[in-house]
Amino acid sequence: MTRLAGKVALVTGGSAGIGRAAALIYAREGAKVVVSDIAVEGGEETVGKIKENGGEAVFIKANVVNDAEVKELIDKTVSTYGSIDCAFNNAGILGEMAPTADCTEENFDKVININLKGVFLCLKHEIPQMLKQGGGAIVNTASIAGLIGFPTAPAYVASKGGVVQITRVSALVLQRNLILDKANKLLYDCIKGAKLLFAAILIQGKEPKEHAWLFAATRTNLM
Ligand SMILES: NC(=O)c1ccc[n+]([C@@H]2O[C@H](COP(=O)([O-])OP(=O)(O)OC[C@H]3O[C@@H](n4cnc5c(N)ncnc54)[C@H](O)[C@@H]3O)[C@@H](O)[C@H]2O)c1
Repeated sequence: MTRLAGKVALVTGGSAGIGRAAALIYAREGAKVVVSDIAVEGGEETVGKIKENGGEAVFIKANVVNDAEVKELIDKTVSTYGSIDCAFNNAGILGEMAPTADCTEENFDKVININLKGVFLCLKHEIPQMLKQGGGAIVNTASIAGLIGFPTAPAYVASKGGVVQITRVSALVLQRNLILDKANKLLYDCIKGAKLLFAAILIQGKEPKEHAWLFAATRTNLM
């Protein structure tokens, strides 16, 4: 199937794990894919796998905590492929495990920066581009930790709660639909019990739900 033929997908955290799986699926569905990450080797590997399968992709290195790098990532995506139709803001880390009183300031800052500020910066630069081009779909990888607490992950839980809320507020401001897609049984099974939550903004059309679920529903095939 090529449900994303003619579309351009940007995936952060695309060098490994869920981001790589999503990049491969976007490509398989016909999208041109920009794989982005701080990890160059893994990113090139993702691009290589896409090309081996006959897809189109490039790697662009960007640290999601750096405003200038995120802006450049968006600019380069548009100058390379002409638009950003699907943005999958997925880069994230778990950080160190410790209850609040033992969570270091360094760990807190790092996790909040990558998981929450990273998503904020991506949204900040993606939204104007999508409005300018007349539409698009954004999916942010949150977590079930964005809805419930885990005693040894205060920074992570706070960051993912923030991802849900910044997605909500961005959708509100845009007066567009917000879709919170809790992982269903299929996703639980195929990522070995991981508790995922995607927070998506519908900027135009019905793409976000489709592109979130496209990725979720087909991930099994890649495992
Ligand atoms: N795997 C799970 O069980 C699970 C559950 C819930 C949510 N999530 C979320 O899913 C997302 C992906 O997780 P994963 O399991 O695939 O992790 P992963 O570690 O396999 O991949 C994360 C990628 O993000 C990249 N990254 C880290 N910091 C970055 C930065 N500053 N800028 C750009 N890229 C950066 C890493 O290099 C890596 O390639 C994360 O947001 C994570 O919090 C994962």
